[in-house]
Amino acid sequence: MNASSAMSPGPLVLGVETSCDETGIGIVRGHTLLADAIASSVDEHARFGGVVPEVASRAHLEAMVPTLQRACDDAGVRLRDLDAVAVTSGPGLAGALLVGVAAAKALSLSLGIPLYGVNHLSAHVAVDVVEHGPLPEPVVALLVSGGHSNLLLVPDVTHRVTSLGATMDDAAGEAFDKVARVLGLPFPGGPHIDRAARDGSTVAIDFPRALTGSRATERHRFDFSFSGLKTAVARWVQLRAESGQAVPVADVAASFQEAVVDVLSAKAVDACRVQGVEHLLIGGGVAANSRLRVVTQERCQAAGLTMRVPRPGLCTDNGAMVAAWGSLAVAAGRAPSALDLPADSSQPIEQIRA
Ligand code: KG4
Ligand code: ZN
Repeated sequence: MNASSAMSPGPLVLGVETSCDETGIGIVRGHTLLADAIASSVDEHARFGGVVPEVASRAHLEAMVPTLQRACDDAGVRLRDLDAVAVTSGPGLAGALLVGVAAAKALSLSLGIPLYGVNHLSAHVAVDVVEHGPLPEPVVALLVSGGHSNLLLVPDVTHRVTSLGATMDDAAGEAFDKVARVLGLPFPGGPHIDRAARDGSTVAIDFPRALTGSRATERHRFDFSFSGLKTAVARWVQLRAESGQAVPVADVAASFQEAVVDVLSAKAVDACRVQGVEHLLIGGGVAANSRLRVVTQERCQAAGLTMRVPRPGLCTDNGAMVAAWGSLAVAAGRAPSALDLPADSSQPIEQIRA
């Protein structure tokens, strides 16, 4: 992130992300990441055991200008150097999204540069270009976060994304967070379960793997369900505690995590096989999970597939992913969004642009 990288070719694009509890401002030049400034309100939500929308919106308001300033300083660029601004228009928390969309509109209008509203999930896919270069087309993407668990076929991340499957109840990250709570681990639970699981046995407890049997093969082959697994863990822990025995946190964490990872990686590899696609990309907060990265890599290798996954810091929400998508959209000549673009809390996954 220095003056020479700021001079490399490609459009200079700023990305704004506020869909949940991270205020993210990223700046990229072409495929080069120049700044990835993040302010998180996660500590303010921890005592509630989940993100409180109003608290998140207010935190975005307070963090927006300082985070913007930090990103420009880190990148060594001035706002008037920017070629375009991109922003997450949805899906996400309505009030939180509004803060980012309003800020991006203000930048677009005052600087006279085009505005691109982007689907949060497409941005999670696009971010990998800043680490591993141009995306293979098509690529199958497994997106797993606190709000989403999706399998996508991505022929062109700025133009066409097709849904292959999704969770029917809880998102994978939501299951991590809820199981962590049952085990007395802090919010958000994913990283804590990941850490606790390192000292446990993946085969200590045989937790269910939903929608994997032959009956699921036709209708729900690429769908997920984690609610039953979460309940199974809660019941196991409750029975154990009622019988007066200590709860083996590491073993529960490892066995639960293995059930999630087994299902996610098996379905993702199967989707590549069925679609005849040789590249799998994983993204979203749960893609930071160390066990998911290892098991999916092993299964991809065995199936002759290549796996791409950004470093953990770019898997969780950030502004770089929005900037990366914006840079690809500008390079591809995509039309900008209208200045009255709405924040759409339930933006459909296949609607890439606002
Ligand atoms: O993508 P993200 O930052 O925000 C959403 O769009 O939801 O994902 C957050 C989710 C949380 O549920 C968190 O527990 C989970 O990602 N997560 C992890 C790990 N790091 C974050 N889950 C499992 N293992 C991790 N290492
Ligand atoms: Zn996300």
